[in-house]
Amino acid sequence: MSTEAKLSGLAQSQETQVVSAGAPAVSIRGFTKSYRDGVFAVSDLTLDVPEGVICGFVGPNGAGKSTTFRFLATLLRPTRGDAYVRGVSVVNDPLQVRSLIGYMPEQYGLYEGMTVWEFLEFFGAAYGVPRVRRHQVIDDILALVDLSHKRDAFVNGLSRGMRQRLALARALMHDPAVLVLDEPAAGLDPRARIEMQELVRELRRMGKTIIISSHILSELAGLCDVIAFLEAGRLVAYGSLGDLRRTLQRHRSVQIDVLASEGPKAESVLRGMDCIQAIDRSGDTLFIEVAGPDELLAEVLTKLVSSGVHVVRFSERELTLEEVFLRVTEGIVS
Ligand SMILES: Nc1ncnc2c1ncn2[C@@H]1O[C@H](COP(=O)(O)OP(=O)(O)OP(=O)(O)O)[C@@H](O)[C@H]1O
Ligand SMILES: [Mg+2]
Repeated sequence: MSTEAKLSGLAQSQETQVVSAGAPAVSIRGFTKSYRDGVFAVSDLTLDVPEGVICGFVGPNGAGKSTTFRFLATLLRPTRGDAYVRGVSVVNDPLQVRSLIGYMPEQYGLYEGMTVWEFLEFFGAAYGVPRVRRHQVIDDILALVDLSHKRDAFVNGLSRGMRQRLALARALMHDPAVLVLDEPAAGLDPRARIEMQELVRELRRMGKTIIISSHILSELAGLCDVIAFLEAGRLVAYGSLGDLRRTLQRHRSVQIDVLASEGPKAESVLRGMDCIQAIDRSGDTLFIEVAGPDELLAEVLTKLVSSGVHVVRFSERELTLEEVFLRVTEGIVS
């Protein structure tokens, strides 16, 4: 059965929650947490996560990601501040927030003597999934996370990857609008990581808003619509990867390859252009730094071509998420 087919079954079996247009799915306002006097795990965190996006939380160990996630999941009282999940206050109305949010923790407990089916049945009941629908919902979710063949296996006998998928299944039992996933791919093999990413994308396609943390930045770069960078409990940057790149990378780097032995000619054309900050040539390959919008890059290319240079490649090199992360966390702006 394809993932899409599995998902449509799931969507049909559960009620769709109404989205209020324009409002953020999650709105964190001044969230501050101190576990002991004077030491802040998270300080004054404020950000909005729009409906239907995948939002990545990135930061070094101890940055405050899990603390924020536990707070959103109503499992931690803030020292100050609040958050609103579809307008519902985490501090004042945690029960309603729990019905809106599915939380996959960084670590989860052991469940001695419980089978996969019993585990989901137990949490389904706890989340108030009506008994008449519960079995169908469990079937659909097991198919979705590819654990149907393990329905009668003991939870403690599952491999790590299977346990991660079961933890995601648990978070999905009450069809929450928002998912908070704390390192869901930690410890998975490469294939399982890709499958987990695909699952997260499918959940977005179903209209869910997903907040996710990971230390594998290249994975988050391809997955997330917006990324929040935390360091020592503070939000240091927030936005789409494209926006963050543009903010951090004032100079755009472009590699230009020209036909054999046209390198010197190309260099002399480029040296005549004021908009170019730096030129570096190696044979018929040139690297330039330009400060400006796309129009300026187009102008450079047009100038080369109209001067009779045969350009075979003209490509901008963008900062990777790792480079953005290093610059953000070191406070470097190039
Ligand atoms: N229960 C607790 N009691 C005391 N301090 C805590 C507790 N939980 C977390 N902290 C502290 O809060 C800070 C933030 O921890 P948190 O687990 O939120 O970080 P994280 O960003 O999730 O890190 P990691 O990437 O390692 O998972 C750390 O300094 C940590 O030691
Ligand atoms: Mg953590």
